[in-house]
Amino acid sequence: MLKNDIGKSRYMAIFQALEEGIILINRKNRIVLANDCASKMVPWAVPLDGRDITEVFSSSTLERGLQKAVENSSRTAIKVTCWKGRTGDKAIVKGKGREKMYSLSITAIDEKYTLISVKDITEIERLSHVRQDFVSNVSHELKTPLTAITGFAETLAESDLSPEETKRFASIILKNSNHMQRIVSDLLLLTSLDRTELEPVMSETTDNAIFNEVRTYTDYKAQEKEISVRYIAQSIQVRCQESLIVQAVMNLVLNAITYSPSGTEVTVRSKMRAGLMDIMVEDHGVGIEKQDIARIFERFYRVDKGRSRESGGTGLGLSIVRHIAILHGGTIKAESEPGKGSVFILSIPSADPGEADHWREGCEVSGFE
Ligand SMILES: Nc1ncnc2c1ncn2[C@@H]1O[C@H](COP(=O)(O)OP(=O)(O)OP(=O)(O)O)[C@@H](O)[C@H]1O
Ligand SMILES: [Mg+2]
Repeated sequence: MLKNDIGKSRYMAIFQALEEGIILINRKNRIVLANDCASKMVPWAVPLDGRDITEVFSSSTLERGLQKAVENSSRTAIKVTCWKGRTGDKAIVKGKGREKMYSLSITAIDEKYTLISVKDITEIERLSHVRQDFVSNVSHELKTPLTAITGFAETLAESDLSPEETKRFASIILKNSNHMQRIVSDLLLLTSLDRTELEPVMSETTDNAIFNEVRTYTDYKAQEKEISVRYIAQSIQVRCQESLIVQAVMNLVLNAITYSPSGTEVTVRSKMRAGLMDIMVEDHGVGIEKQDIARIFERFYRVDKGRSRESGGTGLGLSIVRHIAILHGGTIKAESEPGKGSVFILSIPSADPGEADHWREGCEVSGFE
């Protein structure tokens, strides 16, 4: 027979090799057997042998699940939430990032034992929440301009308006549809940057070339707001996807201009540092509170929602910068003092890793005066 052919030691080897946690308990809920995978999932409860399963996964759902499986001799699937740490410490160790979620499948295999297969679904659940939050954020962000468009279009269609009013309403519709268009194109860019298989299309360029390109997209705004932007390049050779780095620096420069009062100065400079090229964008604007700095790189996060929306912001700019930095194996950092200003530092590996870790003589590309 197959069973005899395989033999007990092989059964145990198969049991240990499973990539799912397997736990066998008796009718008193004591663990009589558990494989390595189960032990790795709940390190705080190791050794598992002899423990009460309701201590390991303390949850009333588990107790009900065990009862149901035994009473009906059927398979019961449940989800339980735990916190890393011992059961008794639950309240103490409960905190951000410590919550773990498991899916347990419980089967009463005979009149003495119950088999529980355990899966750690913390990451799956987290991603599912991220997805839900994202969908609800996108819907909310699109709803605001859409409501304005519908409302003003209805008025235009149904009322006899003066030519001036008609023009005013039409321009409101245009402004809101432009805003929706920006959200959609920023989201499409983010989605394309998010694809894990995406590799940047690298080419050789310099900080001067990047800055010159950024200027063509941002100088108009600096002039409009009477903000002087100084670009200080060091003729650094760098390998990157130039269009994306230009996009990232452009987002940072537009932010520096948007969140600074007229008459102030913004400085954009580059620096070589141990195989990395840093691009720093410094402003003397409103600054950012410490608790907000941690969140500004999240999608749709804005410190002052009303103000950002008013200035046509989507709240996606810094998230795009972060994705571009990651795609290049780099980082983005922000330092700020509320009321005084901010510095954003984008660092990417350069094509010139032999450079010394120091500031070189800066050559000013040009500036708006
Ligand atoms: N240089 C800065 N100074 C002060 N606050 C800033 C600066 N840069 C970003 N912020 C804050 O971070 C938030 C997120 O910036 P982000 O660029 O992602 O979005 P946005 O500027 O609102 O819109 P957009 O996506 O159109 O750029 C901004 O709303 C603003 O509150
Ligand atoms: Mg922005």
